[in-house]
Amino acid sequence: MGAFRVSLQTLVATVQSILASDKGLLAMDESTSTCNKRFAEIGIPQTVEFRRAYRELIISTPGLGDSIGGVILYDETIRQKTESGIPFLNLLADAGIVPGIKVDAGTTELAGHPAEKITEGLDRLRERLSEYAQMGARFAKWRSVITIGNDRPSLGCLEANAHDLARYAALCQEAGLVPIVEPEVLMDGDHSLQRCAEVTEQTLHTVFDQLYRQGVALEGMILKPNMVLPGQLCPAQSSVNDVADATVNTLFRTVPAAVPAVAFLSGGQSAQDASARLNAMNIRFRSRMPWVLAFSFARAIQQPALEIWRGEKSNTELAQRALSHRASCNRSARRGEYSAALEDR
Ligand code: 13P
Repeated sequence: MGAFRVSLQTLVATVQSILASDKGLLAMDESTSTCNKRFAEIGIPQTVEFRRAYRELIISTPGLGDSIGGVILYDETIRQKTESGIPFLNLLADAGIVPGIKVDAGTTELAGHPAEKITEGLDRLRERLSEYAQMGARFAKWRSVITIGNDRPSLGCLEANAHDLARYAALCQEAGLVPIVEPEVLMDGDHSLQRCAEVTEQTLHTVFDQLYRQGVALEGMILKPNMVLPGQLCPAQSSVNDVADATVNTLFRTVPAAVPAVAFLSGGQSAQDASARLNAMNIRFRSRMPWVLAFSFARAIQQPALEIWRGEKSNTELAQRALSHRASCNRSARRGEYSAALEDR
């Protein structure tokens, strides 16, 4: 860990400034193909200008910085400006929001492991991190994907992904950037809550073992895991409290107390489910958790706003209100103060 000690204080301060005052993270780092896919689903043209306009809508949402302490950007977005020529990075600085950057290059098939994925992007990562740090990014994100199925995940898949996450995290800390370490166990399939808990536990054990081996300072990172959920096709869906208990108990078994913060991905849950589940975890376990339990949602914050906007300028204000509402609901969930009644305002 020696070489990292120099900047550990900086990393710790970055984590604190992102998550201060019960704020959370907004992921708006969809790759071009993912963003285009979301646009296509609701008939928005898939052009660079529509992507820019949508990201401007998000970043210029009035009061966004009241609930969001950090946003995760994508390479295209971090270089963009508003229609009136203000760099997005300046707008974020004015709102008091810390900018971060997705640095993985997406997933591909893992050779020799049918239906399993590996994330690309380690080649030349040191140089890319240095460029992003110079541009003003203070943290980074790398997502690995774990699939549940017959005989899956394999040990080979778990270990390869954990190793890559750890190498990425070590490079981030060397560059003075906080790594968001995101091993996502997917909701796809008909597996039970219990099976997701087992796989998530195995995944997180493997990831923290590799983080240790690569000398990553746990105090200077954020873990971004999935919530423990039954598969989308599982006939037995679980209550909010059962999800909260399964998730936090899995984290207790696997996430060292030195990690300052856990910020969940939403993974395809509805926006309201994601808020209610995070809220229940904070109500039921707050006094026992060594880490802050926060959010780093993309779809569960953005989707209602995207569906209102539909690429029409005249819908911008309403869409921004929906975005701001979701961000604020999730801030309430961090405090254990969310309730369905908040949705009717
Ligand atoms: P979702 O919240 O839509 O799962 O996205 C989070 C994310 O950043 C995926 O990498």
